[in-house]
Amino acid sequence: MSIVGVVSMKGGVGKTSTSANLAAAMVAKLGPDRVSVVDLDPQNALHWHFGLADDDSGGACEQSLRSADWREGLLQSPAHVACLPFGSVSEADREAYEALLALHPNWVGEQIARAGLSNDAIVIVDSPPGPSVYLKQVFACADLVLVVLLADAGSYATIPAMESWLAETNNTQAGCKVFYLLNQVDRSESLNRDTAAYLRQQLRNRICPIEIHADEAVGEALAFQQPVLDYEPHGQASVDLARLASWVIDTINQ
Ligand SMILES: Nc1ncnc2c1ncn2[C@@H]1O[C@H](COP(=O)(O)OP(=O)(O)OP(=O)(O)O)[C@@H](O)[C@H]1O
Ligand SMILES: [Mg+2]
Repeated sequence: MSIVGVVSMKGGVGKTSTSANLAAAMVAKLGPDRVSVVDLDPQNALHWHFGLADDDSGGACEQSLRSADWREGLLQSPAHVACLPFGSVSEADREAYEALLALHPNWVGEQIARAGLSNDAIVIVDSPPGPSVYLKQVFACADLVLVVLLADAGSYATIPAMESWLAETNNTQAGCKVFYLLNQVDRSESLNRDTAAYLRQQLRNRICPIEIHADEAVGEALAFQQPVLDYEPHGQASVDLARLASWVIDTINQ
């Protein structure tokens, strides 16, 4: 079983969209029953990408506070991705969950291991922006972490914060690979194009060779509560995500 974390220091860069759409792209490569997603973000938005309601499920937060098996909260989606929402919870429960995660730095990895997934299963974990107990949990269990960036000055300015966080964190899974991933690249805008080239030059082999282009189908797909690969299978973002899925599968198997 392999775990792929999706993180960023900056908000709104496309972590949740990428987590959901990458999972659907992996199903297209690997077949059903192999790919799950876990929402570690209290915004609790990941399940919307799969047209799922979290009403009957405990979600990762509630399951954790009850010391219950995360498998019980897994929702099966029409896209053949199993999804564990964060859950819609009270402020007190969110705080209790964050206290639990702070006390047990390997909690998320332990719960995923306890779910007894097959050896060839892949779990994609979405996270909230910036430093948090959730970010620590992702690095503690992930085999591969994708740090999502936009090709703009705002994202560029967050790279030092990510780098110093990485240097300071002392509970990273052994052998965890970390790659920056450019999202919403717009080749028709010269500033965006130049910033993407500059980021590639600066980050060299630490940036994922596949980038995801800006494509309005990504937002439209969410409006229809389905992965972009189902909504517009031959669009630019779907093509990019299919290539990203192949690269991620190769990278975790290396
Ligand atoms: N490749 C893309 N092309 C066009 N729009 C995109 C792309 N990726 C994401 N978006 C849009 O960017 C916005 C933010 O995306 P998303 O919610 O996935 O970001 P996030 O990093 O998860 O945000 P947060 O930090 O709040 O969790 C959404 O409107 C989404 O539709
Ligand atoms: Mg998000």
